[in-house]
Amino acid sequence: MTDSRDPFAGGLPALDGTRVRLRAIRPPDDPDLLAVFGDAHHLRYWSHGPLADLAAARQYREGIEAGTRDRSLFQWAITEPADDRLVGTTTLGSWDQKNRRADIGFILRPDHAGRGLASDAVRTAIRFGIREMALHRVEADVDPENEASIRLLERLGFQREGYFRERWFTFGSWKDSAMYGLLAADLAG
Ligand SMILES: CC(C)(COP(=O)(O)OP(=O)(O)OC[C@H]1O[C@@H](n2cnc3c(N)ncnc32)[C@H](O)[C@@H]1OP(=O)(O)O)[C@@H](O)C(=O)NCCC(=O)NCCS
Repeated sequence: MTDSRDPFAGGLPALDGTRVRLRAIRPPDDPDLLAVFGDAHHLRYWSHGPLADLAAARQYREGIEAGTRDRSLFQWAITEPADDRLVGTTTLGSWDQKNRRADIGFILRPDHAGRGLASDAVRTAIRFGIREMALHRVEADVDPENEASIRLLERLGFQREGYFRERWFTFGSWKDSAMYGLLAADLAG
């Protein structure tokens, strides 16, 4: 791939996983975005608090759309092809084209957890990142107490590479980060 090739020239491409389909987030998804990002307990390991209402969901979506436009953040809706409803999101961010790395984020609505949908979605986004964005390395910054996320990352081949103390000030206290990394050749599944 040459530096001039832009895999996002036509917007965020739809990607098919084994059981999920990733696609761009659209205005009709706002209520489902609120369902994913509206619960404080579910977001206890996230970098920001819950969305308050539909207006906040719309604003959040508009930020996601701007991220695609300026190539700073690529956040896909996680859907199941049967009904095309947004049940979570997965994100490639901090794209460093020179050093061919990016970071990954993911979230699933709690009532869709425990079925492997998030793993499938994250694997699909990373595969795209490797093939179309020429990523050599993907990074994840996780709360060390976030066991479900750590299981997901390790299942995909991520290794724990570091531990940063008090990296985030969220919800009124300092939080540590476990830093995970995956090299392109190590992606499992
Ligand atoms: C992190 C999060 C997305 C994980 O969701 P999840 O559904 O547990 O993740 P997976 O898709 O990997 O599914 C794994 C579970 O499905 C089960 N499963 C069933 N079929 C499976 C399959 N085909 N493949 C993989 N796992 C499967 C696994 O056994 C596993 O269950 P377990 O956790 O009881 O061991 C979810 O907990 C979440 O949204 N958390 C809040 C947001 C957050 O903290 N995000 C991370 C910030 S870094």
